[in-house]
Amino acid sequence: MKRDGHMESLWQATTGSRTTPSYNREPQPALTYDVVIVGAGMTGVTTALLLQKKGFNVLLAEAQNACFGTTGGTTAHLNTLMDTPYPTMIKNFGEAHATGVATAVRDALLHIRANISEYNIDCGYNIEDAFLYAQDDQQEKELEDILLATKKVGIEVEQSSDSPVPVPFTKGLRFPGNARFHPTRYVMPLLEEFIKLGGEYRDNCRVTQVEEAARLTIHTTQGEFFAHRLIYATHIPPGVNLLHFRCAPYRSYAIAVELEDEAQYPGGLAYDMYDPYHYFRTQEVDGQKYLIAGGEDHKTGHHENTETCFMLLEAYVRTHFAVKQVAYKWSSQYFEPTDGLPYIGLLPGANSDNIYVATGYGGNGMVYSHVAALTFAEMFIDKQSNLEKLFDPNRVKPVAGFASFVKESADVAGLLFSKLKPPPTLDTLADLAPGEARIVKYEGTKLAVYKHESGELFMTSAACTHIQCDVAWNSAEKSWDCPCHGSRFSYTGEMLTGPARKDLSDYDMQSAKITSKS
Ligand code: FES
Repeated sequence: MKRDGHMESLWQATTGSRTTPSYNREPQPALTYDVVIVGAGMTGVTTALLLQKKGFNVLLAEAQNACFGTTGGTTAHLNTLMDTPYPTMIKNFGEAHATGVATAVRDALLHIRANISEYNIDCGYNIEDAFLYAQDDQQEKELEDILLATKKVGIEVEQSSDSPVPVPFTKGLRFPGNARFHPTRYVMPLLEEFIKLGGEYRDNCRVTQVEEAARLTIHTTQGEFFAHRLIYATHIPPGVNLLHFRCAPYRSYAIAVELEDEAQYPGGLAYDMYDPYHYFRTQEVDGQKYLIAGGEDHKTGHHENTETCFMLLEAYVRTHFAVKQVAYKWSSQYFEPTDGLPYIGLLPGANSDNIYVATGYGGNGMVYSHVAALTFAEMFIDKQSNLEKLFDPNRVKPVAGFASFVKESADVAGLLFSKLKPPPTLDTLADLAPGEARIVKYEGTKLAVYKHESGELFMTSAACTHIQCDVAWNSAEKSWDCPCHGSRFSYTGEMLTGPARKDLSDYDMQSAKITSKS
């Protein structure tokens, strides 16, 4: 299973023989699908299965392979404890709205449990408590607010002095009925079920253009398809959209370690209250237990040396746990919505009212992906949906999230208008070591240059093909990451994740010309 980075995640290494299923039938170009879903991650696959089961004729088109994006790099916490705490939701959206979100979250967790039970999926699913703990006076005050607001919206919570992790704390809250699982061992069987039900799955099928009309024409690398509706389950929609200014891309780091002391493996999910926060849980895979720890998040493309994030995370884990060995390290991307809630529903700015999107999950992608599946099913079947109102991507909330909106927009504007220091010139490449990369300037053009361990130089334009911000090197994942809206590219320039639609352009040294690749 390929993923959108150089580091191998625990899930990637242990998905086993359940790799991408092959196409289940020959192309039917004249057919008009009820729904085309773009992206075979957690959102795409769960939505495709649910809709196919409800009688829709669905095509699931994936640009790479299933779970290539964040689903293959998540830490897979199934929680009722959200990144946007309930006091913030109540403040920004009101108590009724926050209660609706809490209900949707509970329903999503039940849906996951039902899928596992119905399809008898062996994915290491375990129901556990989540534990949120304060470590200073300020955090204790926040914890009090969270306790009151969480009870108000109907989520089960109580004060607790029992922590599953050996990290000192002053006060804690326990949230029963949370869970964890192996995400790709959950998704792959669902994909197989989708195909068994007659759904059509195509990998290596990149959507290149959509002609908007009541009957959509969808151009892909495998030809044209037609559909009445299209859902972008691509983590962030491609192209240029209002949502790129309402969602900020972040990287999060994870390690899976084996411990010396069996008793130290946490019997629950645990979270501290720093920003960014650390999070812990256990997963047993094929008889081997792992402590999975995450944290050290930062905005995509905003960290000089991403390898230090792993070092800091590992050092933090070693402070509290007796580590036998670090088995896996990986990072992944998530999109933080400016007002704290995801965007699920009609794509803003589309010319036709049959293009949908699900994005802005923050750190709660496992749960919100299922909220998205349930929302789309309700929208398409019942025509009216309470969920649609809760997560409307076209919502205008001038107060909620305004400060973050201004901050994120100013950040992007700064990057676009090159307030960064000018890059070095080409002659500085002489001291570039194998495995290193650098942005340099040559003949007025900024180039992204990577020197492979073999000594070979890879050179592309440094201008992101979305809206031309300069990409930045991610040394851990060996990728060029765009600091503006989170597009990512391999060192050869191949597009890994959108919103860009094209690879980085090639640069020809002889003619000093840039050539678009795709
Ligand atoms: Fe928008 Fe790169 S992702 S400019």
